[in-house]
Amino acid sequence: MNISILGGGGFLGRKIATRLAQSGTIGARPVTGLTLFDLHEPPPLDAPFPVTRLAGDIVALPETAIPPGTDIIFHLAAVVSAQAEADYDLGRRVNLRGNDAVVDACRRIVANGGRPPRVVFTSSVASFSGGQSANLADDARQLPANSYGAQKAAAELILADASRRGFMDTVSLRLPTVIVRPGRHNNAASSVFSAIIREPLLGLSTELPVPDNFAAWVCSPRTATSWLLHAGALDTSALGLSRGINPPGISVTIAQLLNGLEQVKPGAAALVRLVPDPAIAAIVGTWPSRFTPVRALALGFAPHEPVVELIRAFVEDDLAATKADRGIAI
Ligand SMILES: NC(=O)c1ccc[n+]([C@@H]2O[C@H](COP(=O)([O-])OP(=O)(O)OC[C@H]3O[C@@H](n4cnc5c(N)ncnc54)[C@H](O)[C@@H]3O)[C@@H](O)[C@H]2O)c1
Repeated sequence: MNISILGGGGFLGRKIATRLAQSGTIGARPVTGLTLFDLHEPPPLDAPFPVTRLAGDIVALPETAIPPGTDIIFHLAAVVSAQAEADYDLGRRVNLRGNDAVVDACRRIVANGGRPPRVVFTSSVASFSGGQSANLADDARQLPANSYGAQKAAAELILADASRRGFMDTVSLRLPTVIVRPGRHNNAASSVFSAIIREPLLGLSTELPVPDNFAAWVCSPRTATSWLLHAGALDTSALGLSRGINPPGISVTIAQLLNGLEQVKPGAAALVRLVPDPAIAAIVGTWPSRFTPVRALALGFAPHEPVVELIRAFVEDDLAATKADRGIAI
């Protein structure tokens, strides 16, 4: 299988690439080539198949980013939530026009006699609203309360229509907030949910912008990566026109996260200090805190592990690299 990851230098793009390199397969079929495309050239990857690393802008997508013969495109390149809210022009440009560029690339492949590629698109919980009291069923309407969520919902519709027209075969996963994010704070409004675990595990204090009874719909990078790979190999014949899937995340309160942190590193939760931030609260406060994802489980998307395992996974997978990145002694 020839695979292309747009946004291949980002957090989840690198996780997918690493998992593919470790297994050498997707859905039990061998990976024969991987193209990683991002604004900056993605880091080298030691893999049992050829890897091409490219820098560029998704809006002006070069043909080499999705070469002829590509079977699966992981379409992750995006301007994330807080940045898309702060910079309306940039969010619209990358999240909408970048999406159009992916559709056009697939149209060209099909017009030249190629197979319509599988496109796995990372949509978001932010394409819904409803807030703390919400518990959304699979057929809940997407009523975004921020520009990022609106751009994700719009992109989903365009990709579903492109699938109906035979240009591609899309699976859009409305990912929960993925925690624990390694490295540093990023431009996602949800980065606070990672920071309250990551920073204390680094021995650093951090601020909590929402109260500890605040609930969020989350998943781990390990499980998000498994879902994305499953979407890449999924038999889509049962999806019909309905290409958007709510994967089975978990609903956790800040207090439950801090309780999990205490189990992994006793005393660490004392480094988290409540400092209300109305701007962050205004964005994350609209996102639904719970879903009932019946369809995803029926389609074989893995159920989520308990929260304490999610924290232990960060320690195993990403803590050492985060310390090195931040110049913190191991
Ligand atoms: N991490 C989460 O909690 C989460 C939750 C829901 C959805 N998502 C979605 O999953 C995807 C991956 O998220 P992530 O956390 O890895 O984000 P990330 O910011 O780490 O990765 C996104 C990548 O897109 C690249 N990019 C931005 N603009 C670009 C452009 N014009 N051209 C080419 N590349 C460009 C960035 O350089 C970055 O490497 C995104 O689409 C995001 O919206 C993430």
